[in-house]
Amino acid sequence: MAQQLLSSSPLSCPSISNRRHICLFNNGLLLVVSLLLLLGAGSPLFLFPYISFSSSSSMPLDWRDYSLTQAAKFVAKDRTVIVCTVSYPFLPFLNNWLISVSRQKHQDKVLVIAEDYATLYLINKKWPGHAVLILPALDSHIEHRFGSRGFFKFTSRRPQHLLQLLELGYNVMYNDVDMVWLQDPFQYLKGRHDAYFTDDRTTIKPLNHSHDLPLPDRKGMTYICSCMIFLRPKHGAKLLMKKWIEELQAGSKAYEGNDQPAFNWALNKTYHQVDLYLLSQAAFPTGGLYFKNKKWVEETKGKHVIVHNNYIIGYYNKMKRFQDFGLWLVDDHAFESPLGKLE
Ligand SMILES: *[C@@H]1O[C@H](CO)[C@@H](O)[C@H](O)[C@H]1NC(C)=O
Ligand SMILES: *[C@@H]1O[C@H](CO)[C@@H](O)[C@H](O)[C@H]1NC(C)=O
Repeated sequence: MAQQLLSSSPLSCPSISNRRHICLFNNGLLLVVSLLLLLGAGSPLFLFPYISFSSSSSMPLDWRDYSLTQAAKFVAKDRTVIVCTVSYPFLPFLNNWLISVSRQKHQDKVLVIAEDYATLYLINKKWPGHAVLILPALDSHIEHRFGSRGFFKFTSRRPQHLLQLLELGYNVMYNDVDMVWLQDPFQYLKGRHDAYFTDDRTTIKPLNHSHDLPLPDRKGMTYICSCMIFLRPKHGAKLLMKKWIEELQAGSKAYEGNDQPAFNWALNKTYHQVDLYLLSQAAFPTGGLYFKNKKWVEETKGKHVIVHNNYIIGYYNKMKRFQDFGLWLVDDHAFESPLGKLE
């Protein structure tokens, strides 16, 4: 009996008929351990391989059955997960971003929310457990340009995924994959605030600018970026995500193609209930500044932490700009990515 249990691989457990069944989840493992103890096979040496086995045993038989709960549990370190959302055409950008994340040794916490099955299967084949798909899936063949209707569809789901992770009790960092890390961002997430974010305005601020939500401009708008957000699993952060979802639903026509205005309205409306923290401009510059103002980049040298390749239209233009600035890492450094070289 014990032999049989030990030799049964997690991918061929007895309940193969039920594809949703996950072998050896916590209770299952407990059961197995108690069984082994009952059978007098409970020596630490005997148990050890089983226990290390259990980390891979939370893997489903088919990745389409892998839930966000399982995936978050698998990748989280220090109750923290780093998430991004990716559709198939953006895999090269994902890999580029991942290399930069790996250089800061945070890749283990990365969970890719795959927008289509091709992405889900490819990532999990190369890097098991690090991609999850939350229904509905998008058609892999549709090109999702930044700003297109398809792109909007998936950005509008962002606060729902983030809220779900907060409800599960994780700290969550969200990144767009057209970003590159130059330093470890976690050391900049000072204090115990609910939500951390960056300003997308290109106006240069003093280095000691306030960490409060910026004042609205003459149009009554703020331009906080929905591209890089860090949230702690506290009431305020959840409230902010709920308001963001509400704003997206209320204004879906007006916001078509962009979830950022809704995020800004959510920040505005929850301002008195949420502990907000605006990250430093020099550390987290918008692409409108980093790629367009050489003088500023020179003056703030060594202070940049995450660079965002926005304020540019078009997939290949974006890629070219990374190349021009020495930030396109996938050609020469693909081996540094947990995904390796793609195709
Ligand atoms: C930033 O520094 C300047 C000059 O040292 C000072 O006058 C200003 O009050 C500071 N601003 C903040 C927000 O601390
Ligand atoms: C919220 O938006 C309104 C309208 O633009 C503005 O008057 C108000 O100052 C904003 N509040 C905050 C906290 O930014």
